[in-house]
Amino acid sequence: MIANYPLNTWYVAAFGDELGADGVVARRLLGTHVVLYRRSNGTVVALEDRCVHRAYPLSRGHRDGDLLVCGYHGCVYDGEGRLLRVPSQEYAPSNAAVRAYPVREDGAFVWIWLGDARAADLRPVPNSPWNLDAGYADTRETFRVEANYLLLHEHYLDLTNVFLMYPEAAPPGIEALPQLDEVHVSELSVAYARTLPRATLAEWEAEATGLPAETSCDRVEEGAFVSPGLHAQRYVIIPVEGERAYRLVRLQGFTPETDTATHVFLQLARDYETRRGIVADYLRAMFHRMAARDVEVLEAVQSRLDDDLLPRRDVNVKADRAAVRARRIAQSMVEEEAGLPVFD
Ligand code: FES
Repeated sequence: MIANYPLNTWYVAAFGDELGADGVVARRLLGTHVVLYRRSNGTVVALEDRCVHRAYPLSRGHRDGDLLVCGYHGCVYDGEGRLLRVPSQEYAPSNAAVRAYPVREDGAFVWIWLGDARAADLRPVPNSPWNLDAGYADTRETFRVEANYLLLHEHYLDLTNVFLMYPEAAPPGIEALPQLDEVHVSELSVAYARTLPRATLAEWEAEATGLPAETSCDRVEEGAFVSPGLHAQRYVIIPVEGERAYRLVRLQGFTPETDTATHVFLQLARDYETRRGIVADYLRAMFHRMAARDVEVLEAVQSRLDDDLLPRRDVNVKADRAAVRARRIAQSMVEEEAGLPVFD
């Protein structure tokens, strides 16, 4: 069976602030066990997490400055994965090394390339469609879902579930999402936008923005499958009589652990109330609760798909337009890597 995720693309391996001066982070990414750490010059190292001697996980060893020492017999590796020393003999076998993977740190994320290393320089890391540098504050969270990564993309590309799953989050008086205004498809990405009917504020909107609950507002909701590894959403509240808009951006790195499990790296950034920790705590808690509910649903779907002996047989509706395009893009990337003819 061919995995349904492409290898030759950047995926998030960690948040930059997970990697400090000490310790390591171990993760299974695209089926490969990887150990990550930060060198004293600030650069990040990503190595195959398997000693060349007896396959002991290097992540269970310890750091010696910028070197990594295996916890079984003490073999020592540098940040390029080269075996430098074997404690029980004078010289290390020449050319012995674990794989070292290309990494890039950009904004909050550390990206990894697990495909053909020669192709890594040809593709830039995916970027948020919105500039988060200017005046945003953020919160971050990582979690794991026992579901295929495309189920996550599909889930967030069709937010018509919000009214059933999170009725408390919907603005008062709006009981269904309107059709998408537009779906923009490029070779490797899908983006959509939708305008909501004018309404006053939901409780969470009033709490987060500090606006009175009776403020009449327009809203624009946008989302994008930026790449197989990055999903972006933006929710903009525009008070009818206000002088500014209130933007909330949810970036999610989706990195397959395996075919049926995904790491999620959630960054929630807002350009309002940026100095108020209480607002950060409120939004973090609210989106954590929503993510937990999303996980429950997605794991139930994956479980049902796993139990079914027949091929997946979904009926698509209008709201699935963006999700269907995203699935096709990922599928064509996988087929191209496998050398199969690509049909669209
Ligand atoms: S398994 Fe790593 S040194 Fe032996």
